[in-house]
Amino acid sequence: MKLTKFLLVAGIIAASIFTSFVMLFFERSTGIAETSINQECKSWKTESLQHLSTLITNTTCSRDYFLLILVSSAPGNFDRRSLIRQTWGAANSHDQSRTFFLLGQIRNQKLSDLLETEAKGYGDIIRGDYYEHYWNQSFKIEMGFEWAARYCNFSFLLKADDDVYVNTKDLTLLLQNPSTPLKRLYMGKVQFRAKVRRYGKFNVSKEEYSGSTYPSYCSGAGYVLSNDIVQCLIPLFDMKKPFRIDDTYVGLVVSKLGISPVHHSRFIFPNDDYDICYFTPYTLVQHRVLGQCLLKLYQMHSKEFYSSNLVSFY
Ligand SMILES: *[C@@H]1O[C@H](CO)[C@@H](O)[C@H](O)[C@H]1NC(C)=O
Ligand SMILES: *[C@@H]1O[C@H](CO)[C@@H](O)[C@H](O)[C@H]1NC(C)=O
Ligand SMILES: *[C@@H]1O[C@H](CO)[C@@H](O)[C@H](O)[C@H]1NC(C)=O
Ligand SMILES: *[C@@H]1O[C@H](CO)[C@@H](O)[C@H](O)[C@H]1NC(C)=O
Repeated sequence: MKLTKFLLVAGIIAASIFTSFVMLFFERSTGIAETSINQECKSWKTESLQHLSTLITNTTCSRDYFLLILVSSAPGNFDRRSLIRQTWGAANSHDQSRTFFLLGQIRNQKLSDLLETEAKGYGDIIRGDYYEHYWNQSFKIEMGFEWAARYCNFSFLLKADDDVYVNTKDLTLLLQNPSTPLKRLYMGKVQFRAKVRRYGKFNVSKEEYSGSTYPSYCSGAGYVLSNDIVQCLIPLFDMKKPFRIDDTYVGLVVSKLGISPVHHSRFIFPNDDYDICYFTPYTLVQHRVLGQCLLKLYQMHSKEFYSSNLVSFY
């Protein structure tokens, strides 16, 4: 009798210790998921003066921008950057947006010198201390977002690729519309619960990601994040190792904040090749646009005639 009672009590004690241990562990492991975005996410700025990412650039944005545009660009794409500067990314002193390009390091000295000259000449290049590679794009994102959060005041950030057309005017109008949430906004062309590929070019190993589907994420060619999310992402980048695929990586980290992406039909990402130059009057961001097509779309969209009045969030 005594022994069973003892065993029972011991069992209860053991069970409660076990439960609290499990709960403690559970809290730890899901601590990220429960991070409230209302929490002070900016503390990483003061707690450590060290850079969390590979960011080198330490110059500021120089003034506040409503919309900050960060373009992932490959070092050799001088032409694309030049055309963007002349079209949708043109710097304008009274503009509410400004475009910067994100670039890493390259081993080719000649190219490296050219980049240095370009960076000095335009002052719109953000550099990271990692080596450029197709599979290193997540480093670009990390250092670019850290630069934005650390050195720039902005309301929204558009991350774009260097082969898109951006309707900066309409995108700004949309984001300024009272129906658009100022916070917790992650918007673009959403890939809903995409399957994780284990084979082929975009394979991801089980070590990198064990689940069979990704949390829904915005396609990388162009998506918008509100300032609060960017601030909160920086410390999370330190907890989740970068992936080779940068848009799924961003989606994964944003999902840790309990935020789901919002799909917007005006983010137009055709699957076709670059030969077809679509003109869609209501485009906000359009993928697979280069050279002559970019010039053509820019000119057509600049005409008042096409300027759309229907710029609401829904
Ligand atoms: C900014 O970076 C430059 C070059 O890396 C360095 O010489 C300078 O001390 C840095 N400035 C600050 C304020 O950290
Ligand atoms: C990515 O960048 C890191 C840091 O510079 C470098 O060690 C690595 O080799 C790069 N990865 C590839 C695939 O080049
Ligand atoms: C951003 O705004 C804060 C507060 O208004 C100000 O102290 C800071 O200098 C600004 N930073 C930049 C880069 O404009
Ligand atoms: C995974 O992707 C890498 C890089 O594209 C490739 O080298 C490798 O062969 C792929 N592995 C599989 C199992 O498909």
